[in-house]
Amino acid sequence: MWAKAEWINPTGSYKDRIAAKTMDAAVRCGARGWIGTSSGNAGAAMAAYGARAGLRGFLCVAADAPSEKLQSVAPYGAAMLAMSTLGPPEMDRIEQLALEYRLQLAITAYRYNPEGMAGAEAIGEELADQGAFTHAYVPAGGGGLLVAVARGLARRAPGRVKLVCAQPAGCAPIVGYLSGALDAPVSAACTTTVSGLQLPSPPDGLLAAGAVRESGGWGCAVTDQEAWDAQRLLATREGVFVEPAAALAVAAISRDVAEGRLATSDCPVAVLTGSGLKDLRRVAPAQRPSPGGLDDLGALLAAAFTMPT
Ligand SMILES: Cc1ncc(COP(=O)(O)O)c(C=O)c1O
Repeated sequence: MWAKAEWINPTGSYKDRIAAKTMDAAVRCGARGWIGTSSGNAGAAMAAYGARAGLRGFLCVAADAPSEKLQSVAPYGAAMLAMSTLGPPEMDRIEQLALEYRLQLAITAYRYNPEGMAGAEAIGEELADQGAFTHAYVPAGGGGLLVAVARGLARRAPGRVKLVCAQPAGCAPIVGYLSGALDAPVSAACTTTVSGLQLPSPPDGLLAAGAVRESGGWGCAVTDQEAWDAQRLLATREGVFVEPAAALAVAAISRDVAEGRLATSDCPVAVLTGSGLKDLRRVAPAQRPSPGGLDDLGALLAAAFTMPT
């Protein structure tokens, strides 16, 4: 399998691609600033690119976002408000406020910001040029990223790559809709702790489901534990530390291999969307190194290796 390295963008996630296009549009249309919503990644990207564009930013963040995500937004100087719910009703109201105050709407969904989302379509275009992939595994929350990847792929390699929508089992409205378990891509509950994918009512859910069906792909839901296991595997085997939302795409590949949906002749690629440094909840402080001195170091090495005689 292959991975698309989106965690190495300047602010640590693929959202930079959307922020660049959004701020470009803001400058071109003479917006007085920007206003958006975020679980953290989009906020950091919009705030950074907004600062470079010289625009004032106003950001509604998910109150339960990992603190590393919120801390990484702070340096750029956008005004932030932590909100306990950030679904379509809040987004619709923010859209009205953007119009009223002549601000660029900086939400990372086609429903609200198609111009900005076009920036992420480059991921699909690049994938079409970068390998003979048979399947693209995309982690989905609002669904916009998947739609963007599908549109980019369709432009450069129509019909070649099947799209697999990877969602946490604790919030999998698009996967549920694709399998026929739900009448609409809307979940009654959201129990996952995977930041970025906690959207029971995804704004681009229908578009995403349509893109998956058109490509001949499917949906795959995995548990949070599977995402954390994949996160650890990527870090310890590959030296790649991504956030749980990104690792979830790799967990979906593992599951599809185990359940026979992927064959050894297939060549899947996972979009690794964000850096592990964005969410350290499962790493620190639980995994702080135990205190020690040089004697302990000697003992550690002696236990790990047999000295040549
Ligand atoms: C790291 C990460 N991966 C995937 C996604 C999912 O993108 P979308 O909401 O467009 O489906 C997000 C969204 O915030 C994210 O932050």
